[in-house]
Amino acid sequence: MEITGKIATVRKRIEQARRDGKRIGLVPTMGALHAGHTSLIDAAVQACDYVVVSIFVNPTQFGPNEDLDEYPRDIEVDSRLCAKGGVELIFVPDVDEMYPSPNMTWVNVEELTTGLCGRNRPGHFRGVTTVCNKLFNIVRPDIAFFGQKDAQQAIVIKRMVADTNLPLEIEICPTVREKDGLAMSSRNRYLDDQQRKDALLLYKALTRARQMVQQGARSSREIIAAMNEILQSAAGVAVEYVSVVDPETLSELDTITERAIIAVAARVKTTRLIDNIIVDLNKQ
Ligand code: PAJ
Repeated sequence: MEITGKIATVRKRIEQARRDGKRIGLVPTMGALHAGHTSLIDAAVQACDYVVVSIFVNPTQFGPNEDLDEYPRDIEVDSRLCAKGGVELIFVPDVDEMYPSPNMTWVNVEELTTGLCGRNRPGHFRGVTTVCNKLFNIVRPDIAFFGQKDAQQAIVIKRMVADTNLPLEIEICPTVREKDGLAMSSRNRYLDDQQRKDALLLYKALTRARQMVQQGARSSREIIAAMNEILQSAAGVAVEYVSVVDPETLSELDTITERAIIAVAARVKTTRLIDNIIVDLNKQ
């Protein structure tokens, strides 16, 4: 396995891999890798012959009061996990390599980015789609792998790829959870013991929602109310949104008729966490 910070080196290695007839997989990350990330690496190694992991804490997707400076960085642990997982190349550029001059060209998906996380994080998805567009142009993968954990991000990226005719497939992998159900996240490292307990309420609220749907509940308002009650049971949890949305358009649903994403974002003290489940009335 090789680690490089240079775009030119990535291009050279990819050219060689293509000449060798290899199928290229890309797993874009911001590092501080955990089992959620390694599940994407596993899927990529399964489906491709040459897997690239990018590790880049992308400044353009962080708001001015967000955790860009605190975001955990641990390239040693990350590279060990990648090597163990069968990754061929880690691309870990610095900010100047990715943004050599103030950025003027943005890739922005409209509509899908205005609700849910987009409402509280203006400019966030523009940063995500812009950096993913760059990564796709640098690596030119056959398949790029994303997690269902960031449901809106996955849908937005798929749309960006479709709308700009990028020649790659996007594969969405299921959310990996801790034993007790908490969705794995690099930001879980910020949580102390009490906050870790409070964080579990996101999963508990989603579990309750799934149970209600299984028992026949269809009204979003009813489901959201029950979830809010659970989330508000701890003083340390501040709900940002609880939403029931259409899995393709991300528009709010009053009633669940077929498939829906039930999504939650909340702050546990200062740590912002998100989670979601997909419910499908045809598969109950
Ligand atoms: P990051 O938060 O590091 O996540 C990288 C990828 O891992 C994303 O596709 C995310 O959905 C996936 N992931 C995170 N936690 C997961 C979990 N518990 N189970 C399954 N997959 C999980 O998302 C980003 O970085 C950035 O926005 C990025 C796409 C790299 C652009 O900068």
